[in-house]
Amino acid sequence: MTQNPPEPGTKGVRPRPLGVRRAAFRDLNRLLQRVGKPAWATPVLIALGLASSFAETIGITLIVLFLYAATGHSADNGGLMGMVVGRAAHIFGSTGNLAWLILAMIVARGALTMLYNRISTNIAAEISERTRNLVHEQYLKVGYSFIQNHTQANLIEVLASESWEISAAYTSFTRLVINACSIAVFTLFLTLLSWKIMLVAFAGSALISMATRLFTGRARALGTKVKATHEYLGAQMLMTIQGMRTIRAYGQEEGRQVAFSETSLEAREVTNALARLSAWIGPLTEVGYLGILCVIIAGSNWWHTSFTLTLGAVALLYRLQPHTRELEDNLMRFAQNEPQLHSVRMMLETDDKEYPPDGTIAFSRINSGISFRNVEFRYDKANSNVLSDLSFDIPAGVTTALIGASGAGKTTIVNLLLRLYEPVGGEISVDGVRLSDIRRADWVRQLGLAGQDTELVGGTVMENIRMADPCCEESTAIAAAKIAGVAPFVESLPKGYETWIGPEGLHFSGGQRQRIGLARAILRDSNLLILDEAMSALDRGLEDRVKHEIDSRLASRTTLIITHRLETVQDVQHVVWIEDGRVRAEGPPAWVLPQAIMELAPSDARAPTQI
Ligand SMILES: Nc1ncnc2c1ncn2[C@@H]1O[C@H](COP(=O)(O)OP(=O)(O)O)[C@@H](O)[C@H]1O
Ligand SMILES: [Mg+2]
Repeated sequence: MTQNPPEPGTKGVRPRPLGVRRAAFRDLNRLLQRVGKPAWATPVLIALGLASSFAETIGITLIVLFLYAATGHSADNGGLMGMVVGRAAHIFGSTGNLAWLILAMIVARGALTMLYNRISTNIAAEISERTRNLVHEQYLKVGYSFIQNHTQANLIEVLASESWEISAAYTSFTRLVINACSIAVFTLFLTLLSWKIMLVAFAGSALISMATRLFTGRARALGTKVKATHEYLGAQMLMTIQGMRTIRAYGQEEGRQVAFSETSLEAREVTNALARLSAWIGPLTEVGYLGILCVIIAGSNWWHTSFTLTLGAVALLYRLQPHTRELEDNLMRFAQNEPQLHSVRMMLETDDKEYPPDGTIAFSRINSGISFRNVEFRYDKANSNVLSDLSFDIPAGVTTALIGASGAGKTTIVNLLLRLYEPVGGEISVDGVRLSDIRRADWVRQLGLAGQDTELVGGTVMENIRMADPCCEESTAIAAAKIAGVAPFVESLPKGYETWIGPEGLHFSGGQRQRIGLARAILRDSNLLILDEAMSALDRGLEDRVKHEIDSRLASRTTLIITHRLETVQDVQHVVWIEDGRVRAEGPPAWVLPQAIMELAPSDARAPTQI
C-alpha cells in the first residue's frame, strides 16, 4: 500500500540505445497526462523549433548560393545540389536579392527562436506550477498512513524541488525532438550538397555520439545519487531546526555540525561530479566535429569536390555541431532527471494508494450517540492489532471519559473518529449510520479537537486559533481565547494575537500551547468535542475553570475527554476504560473509576502529566 517509490529502472527496464530508458519517457508521458498540460503545446513547440531550424538551414544554403553567385559560378559538379544551386542563382538574378533573402531567413530564425523560447518558458512554468499543486493536493487527500510512512524530508524534497524538475525534463524532451529533427534537416541538405561528405560526417557523428553515450549512464546514476543526497541533506536540516533545543541542551552542536558538514560535502561532490560530466560533452563534440571538418577538407581534393561546395558543407556542418551537442546535452539532462521523474510520478499515482472513503449521507448533529462494534485496527498490515474487538458507546449530549494506560489505544480511537484511518474490522456508527457512509466534510465540520501536543501551525496566534473557523470575526476568536485562558499571556506580548508562532509553538510553554489548542476547539463550537489529554499541562485551577466554561456554554454537546487524571473525571456521565486496545470496563464513573484508580493511579501519582 505505502512504499517509498523504488528507484527507477532497478528491475525489468533495460537501458536504451540512446542512453535514456524508455521507462523515463513513459514516466514523463504519464506525468504530463496527469498534470494536463495544454494539448497544443508539444506540437506547436516542435513545429516552431523545426521552422527555426529550416530557416537556419535555408539561410546557410543561401550563403552557399551567395558564394556561387559572387564567384560567378552557375553550375557545379557537386551532385544534385550543384544543379539546384545553378538554377537558383539564375532565378534570383542578382547577388543583392540573395543577400536580402539571407537576411530575411536570419530574421525569421531569430523571431521563431524568440517565440519558441517564450512559449516554452510559459509551458514549463505552467507544468511546474500544476505539478506542485497536484503533489500538494495529493498530500492533503491521500490516506493519512501514506503520509505517516514517508519521511518529512522525502515529502518536502518531492514537493519543493523535484516538482520543478518535471518542467526541466519536459523542456529537455521537446528540445530533444527539435534537435533530432534539425539534425535530420541538416543531414538532408548536406546529402544534397555532397553525399560523400555526408557519409564522412555521419560516421564521425556516430563515433562522437558513442563516446558521449558512455557518460549518460553515469549521469543517471549520479542523478539518483543527487536525489538521495538532497533528501538526506533535507533530513539533516529538519533535524537541526526541529531539534534545536534538545541539541543545545545535550551539547550536541559540534556533532550535529560534523554530521551536517559531511552530508553537505557529499552534496557538493555529487553536484560537482554532475557538472564535470556535463563539461565533457561540449569539448568532446567540438573537438570531434573539428576532426570531421579536417577529414572533409583533407578529403575534398581526393573526392574532387570544388572549394565552394566544400566550404558550403563545412558551413552546414559547423552549424550542425551545436545541434548535436545540444542533443547529447539534453539526453544527459533527461537521464539525470529520470529519478525525479519517477519519484514524482509515483507520488502522483492514484491507483496504488488508498484514499479515505467519502460517504454520501448528509449529517448535521449527533442525536443518540456513537458506537464502536468489534472494531479492529492496526497502523500497518505488517504490525499487530492496536485495537481488537473493541465495542463501546459514546452517548450523545453527555461527557464520556476515555481512560487507560499510556499506549492503550486512546489516541488511536480519536484518529478513527477523525477519519484519519479506517478500521480494518468491525464498525463505527453514528446514530446507527456507518461513519464511513457519512459525508466526510459534514462529519468533520461537527468535530472540535484539542490534544496533548497541540499541533500549532506556522502563523500568528490569531491564525492558529482561526484554523477552527477562518471566517469568524476577530472578536469571536478573542472570546474563545479568553475562555481557554489564552488572553493573559498573549495580550501582554508586544504584537498580541499577531505574534508569530512556529509549528513547535516557540516561545510558549506546553500549557500555553495547550490553551491555544483549547481556544481553537472552543471556537469551533462543534457538536462533538474531543479533548485528548488537552489539559494535561494546565494547572488544576485553570483546568476546572476551562471545563466549567465549556460545560456552561455547550451544555448539550457530546464530549469525549481523554485523561490521565482520573480524579478530574469523577463528574462525567460515562467512563470507558481501555486496556491493550480492548474495553476493560464501561459504565458510570462510580462503577468504573474505583477499580481503575486502584490499577492506574499509582503511576499517575508519580507522573501526573505523562502519557
Ligand atoms: N502512527 C502510528 N504508527 C504505528 N503505531 C502507532 C502509531 N500511533 C500509535 N501507534 C501505536 O499504537 C499503540 C496505541 O497508541 P495510542 O493510541 O497513541 O495510545 P494512547 O493514546 O492510549 O497512549 C501504541 O503501541 C503506539 O505505539
Ligand atoms: Mg494518547
